[in-house]
Amino acid sequence: MTTNKRIAVVPGDGIGKEVIPNAVEVLRASGADLEFAHFDWGADRYLLDGTTMPAGGFDMLARDFDAILVGALGDPRIPSNIHARDILLGMRFQMDLYANVRPVRLLDESLCPLKNARLDDINFTVIRENTEGLYAGMGGNFKFGTPDEIATQEDINTRKGVERVIRFAFDYARANGRREVLMSDKSNVMAYAGSLWQRVFKEVARDYDDITPQHMLVDALCLQMVREPQSLEVIVTNNMFGDIVTDLAAALQGGLGMAASGNIHPGRTSMFEPVHGSAPPIAGKNMANPMGSILSGAMMLAELGMTAQAAKIEAAVVDAVREKKTTIDVGGSMGTRECAAWIAERVAR
Ligand SMILES: NC(=O)c1ccc[n+]([C@@H]2O[C@H](COP(=O)([O-])OP(=O)(O)OC[C@H]3O[C@@H](n4cnc5c(N)ncnc54)[C@H](O)[C@@H]3O)[C@@H](O)[C@H]2O)c1
Repeated sequence: MTTNKRIAVVPGDGIGKEVIPNAVEVLRASGADLEFAHFDWGADRYLLDGTTMPAGGFDMLARDFDAILVGALGDPRIPSNIHARDILLGMRFQMDLYANVRPVRLLDESLCPLKNARLDDINFTVIRENTEGLYAGMGGNFKFGTPDEIATQEDINTRKGVERVIRFAFDYARANGRREVLMSDKSNVMAYAGSLWQRVFKEVARDYDDITPQHMLVDALCLQMVREPQSLEVIVTNNMFGDIVTDLAAALQGGLGMAASGNIHPGRTSMFEPVHGSAPPIAGKNMANPMGSILSGAMMLAELGMTAQAAKIEAAVVDAVREKKTTIDVGGSMGTRECAAWIAERVAR
């Protein structure tokens, strides 16, 4: 019986094509029993033959792979961003990867823009609803392009969608030794969706008497993330608020280059990706920070049960940051390849 895990690798566009192959080398160095298959989905392929996601692609991923590692999608030659929508949002929505998990951990005090921040001050996780909300693409334009134009964008919140992501957050807290789950919304003005989130949160919390439920309006949460980040443990919120607060969170941990994420549906093929985009201005220059991708790879291993290898990779990234073996965005002087090679060498030791 084979124990290896099959990983679909989609580097995508821009710096995705640099950081992902380097992250794969680090994964190989970890000794994890992985088999990689590379897919060229992205801007170049779309411009070549019009393919965004091939027919049957999502079914194939779910059937033939244990996990997916994605770089970034987005290219200035495709202003509509249609390929990114089809591929990236396609994976999240079509494969029903409903929990976007964003660990926010400071690896070195020098990386934090907050005055006097200590290492332990920034160590929380955001669980963002990933399949509904304002990102469901419901709405339209009426009298388009005229002075009377009306645009609507609907915020979709289903009972099922809200409940499962809240339950995921409580399960995550329990599995990771956390004591508190904070639900964040804007229920003072978005009353209908807010009411659903509030009611479901209270109901689900009753099943977890070892975890304290908390609530904060999302504007207050932004303030808290900067003023008192050490008070935060696990945050659960909707798609739009999660998108915004996780960028603020990335700044607390040293910038977009450091941030990792998983798009998870427990028991199914899940997808892991750095938080950053394709960064066209620095693409192809060996400048991009590979750590977000490497840490996303470590998250993937942990999710696949390869926790020892995941821990080895995380420890090597921590060493790299502390020894300034990093790219320039986080204070070092290495290139993408050199930084990743240093980490791979440390992992392989
Ligand atoms: N998940 C994704 O695939 C994703 C996410 C965000 C943006 N995008 C797409 O990426 C393109 C560029 O978007 P953007 O500029 O708003 O966001 P971006 O994340 O690409 O870049 C924002 C800033 O962060 C810097 N940066 C990002 N990643 C870095 C890294 N690894 N190392 C060093 N610096 C890094 C960039 O140079 C830039 O200054 C757009 O087409 C956008 O749609 C894709």
